[in-house]
Amino acid sequence: MFTAPVPELRLSQSFHRAADQPIGALISQALANPGLISLAAGFVDPSTLPIEATGELTASIFADPSMGRDALQYGTTTGRPDLRAEIFDRFVRPDFGAECPFTPDNLVITAGSNQLLYLLGESLLDPGDIVIAAAPSYFVFLGTLSQLGAEVVGVEADGDGMDPAALEATLIEIKSAGQLNRLKAIYLVSYFDNPAGSTLTASRRAKIIELAKQYSQDQRIMVISDEAYRPLSYEGDDLASMSSMDAASEFVVSAGTFSKSFSPGIRVGWGLLPDELVDAITAQKNNIDFGSPNLNQFIVQRALQTGRYETHVDNLRIAYRLKRDAMLAALDQYLGDIDDVVWRRPDGGLYVWLTLPKHLSASPASALFHLAVERGVLYVPGQYCFPSKGTAVHENTIRLSFGVESAERIADGIRILSLCIQETLASSD
Ligand SMILES: Cc1ncc(COP(=O)(O)O)c(C=O)c1O
Repeated sequence: MFTAPVPELRLSQSFHRAADQPIGALISQALANPGLISLAAGFVDPSTLPIEATGELTASIFADPSMGRDALQYGTTTGRPDLRAEIFDRFVRPDFGAECPFTPDNLVITAGSNQLLYLLGESLLDPGDIVIAAAPSYFVFLGTLSQLGAEVVGVEADGDGMDPAALEATLIEIKSAGQLNRLKAIYLVSYFDNPAGSTLTASRRAKIIELAKQYSQDQRIMVISDEAYRPLSYEGDDLASMSSMDAASEFVVSAGTFSKSFSPGIRVGWGLLPDELVDAITAQKNNIDFGSPNLNQFIVQRALQTGRYETHVDNLRIAYRLKRDAMLAALDQYLGDIDDVVWRRPDGGLYVWLTLPKHLSASPASALFHLAVERGVLYVPGQYCFPSKGTAVHENTIRLSFGVESAERIADGIRILSLCIQETLASSD
C-alpha cells in the first residue's frame, strides 16, 4: 500500500498573528491550579448569576407556543427589532437631548461585544493600518487587532483615562511621518476601564472626539468607545455615552453588552453605529452567522421588559461594591506601607490597577509571578495590556480583579500577594 508522509498543515497568516494570546495561558494556569485565589479572571461572580430569573424568563417564553417557536427559529442579521427598540429606549435615547440622530436601526445585536469589536476591526482595517489605544488597554482586543495585522500605538492614560495631550502629540507624530492615511481608529474603554479602573472624564471625551475629527484628513478616524462596564457603577454620576457627544453622529461607535450586567453565558452585546458601519457590520455578519442566537435575545428582551434586568443590576452593584471595598481595604492594610506601591480606586467595574516599584517586574516570567502562583494567587501581569508601540511596556504593573472571589478570599489573596511582593523586593535588594 502506498503510504506518503502526511503533508504539512499550512495555517493562515491570520492564525500565526493570533497564536500567542495571553488569555489562553492564564486560563490554563487557573485550571492547572484549581485552589488558586484568582484575582486575575475578569469573569462575573458566579454567586450573583441570575439562575432563577433566567429559568423563569425562559419558561415564560416557552409557555407561549408562538413565542417559543419564534425563539427557536433563526432571527435577523442585525438582531430582534423588539430587543433593539428596548435597548434604544433604555440605553441610547436617554443620553441625547431633544434631538437624537440615531434610531433603533443604528443598533446591531452581536454575540457579546467582543464580536462587535472583531467585526469593527474586520470592517475598518487592512493589515498595516494603525489603531491608537489607551496604554494600558483591554488585552483581548489588542490581540484581535494584532490578528488583523493592525499596528497598535499606545497613548498614555492616567486615573481619568486617555490623556488628550498625549493623544494630540501622537497624532502630530503620525501626521509628520506621513502616516495619517493609515490611522483608522482610536479605542478606549470609557467607563470603569478594563484594566485600569479609570473613567474617561466628560471633558476628555469631548476633546478626544474633537481631535479625531481634526485629524480625519485622509479618511475618517473612528472613536471606538467600549462601554462594557457602564452598568456596574458603584458611585458618582453616570456620564453620557461618547456617541451622544458627536453631534454629526459620524465619528463614534459605542459598544455595549449584557455579559457583565446579566450573564456572559447568554452573551448578547450591541453596537450603536453610524449608518455606513451598520451596513458594513451587517455584511460581515451575514457571512459569519447571519444573526446572533435568537433564544438568547428573547431572554434578554424579556429580562428588560419584566424589570428582572434592573433588579439584577441593582443587586450586582451592592455585591460588587462590597467586594471592591474589601479589596481596597486589604490593599491599604497589606500594601499601604510599601514604598512606591500605588493603586487606583475605581468607581465601578471589576478591576484595580496596581503599580509596583519601577524595578520590580510582575511579568509572567518574573520571580514575583511564580512565587504568587506557588503561594496560591493568580493575577494578570499588566504588561499584557500595553500596546507594542507608542509607550513603554510597564512590567511593574498588575491588573487585579474583585470579580469572582468572595470578600474573604480577596482579602486573603491581597495578604498573600503583599508577602510575595515583600519577599521579592527583599531578595532583589
Ligand atoms: C472592556 C471589555 N470589552 C468587551 C468585553 C467582551 O464582553 P462580551 O463579549 O462578553 O460582551 C470584555 C470582557 O471582559 C471587556 O472587559
